[in-house]
Amino acid sequence: MKGKRRISSLTAYDCTTAKLIDEAGIHIILVGDSLGMTVLGYDSTIPVTLDQMIHHTAAVSRGVQSAMVIGDMPFLSYQASLEQAITNAGRLLKDGAADAVKIEGGEFRAPAIEALVQNGIPVMGHIGLTPQSVKAFGGYKVQGRETEQADQLRRDALALEEAGAFAMVLECMPADLSGEITESLSIPTLGIGAGPKCDGQILVVSDMLGMFTDFTPKFVKKYANLGEQMQKVFKRYNQDVSDGSFPGPDNWY
Ligand code: KIV
Repeated sequence: MKGKRRISSLTAYDCTTAKLIDEAGIHIILVGDSLGMTVLGYDSTIPVTLDQMIHHTAAVSRGVQSAMVIGDMPFLSYQASLEQAITNAGRLLKDGAADAVKIEGGEFRAPAIEALVQNGIPVMGHIGLTPQSVKAFGGYKVQGRETEQADQLRRDALALEEAGAFAMVLECMPADLSGEITESLSIPTLGIGAGPKCDGQILVVSDMLGMFTDFTPKFVKKYANLGEQMQKVFKRYNQDVSDGSFPGPDNWY
């Protein structure tokens, strides 16, 4: 699709949402380790386990007919050794029914990507703001504003392509830099907080639906305020049960 059609992608963590996203024609569904924050209540993606990722990836895969399903490799499931990376990525494909996996990291991650690809596991890379390194970055910060950092990101992108990644996420970097990286590659880029020049865009579904409100990054476009709407509905239900107006005559046998 690179250079022909823009690629749309959203995260999903459960079967029902994945089915709705798939039916809307979205091309790629990422079961992101962002689920640690958006559905499991952690304050970062660091505590997410491989078993949790497999559980949610399998649920998403069951709801999807057409979209490509990508399972995110969680923190410390691929860093320790190539063998660990292959075994764990394989589980996301075998037990989670994912079509591919995503791993974070630049140039230094190329050997792992190469090992996975050589073993038949398609890999999407992820550079820029990589949330699993939030403790090293000292917070969620835009990457690549300084010349040295930008040069490193250019090298990272080329290294990932050369290692065999089929696509990569560019997260939180200046739009000109992501545009330049996108042009320099023959594989597609998916931007999140990386401007309009990427080959496609990806958003966290809970952010764009207005369900996750702990914080909303500048780059998120809220397409709905489902969080507010759900709260109103729950309050109405609570009231109806309290005053006896639910269940009504239509709601019992
Ligand atoms: O975990 C996730 O949802 C992600 C996206 C933000 C790209 O990695």
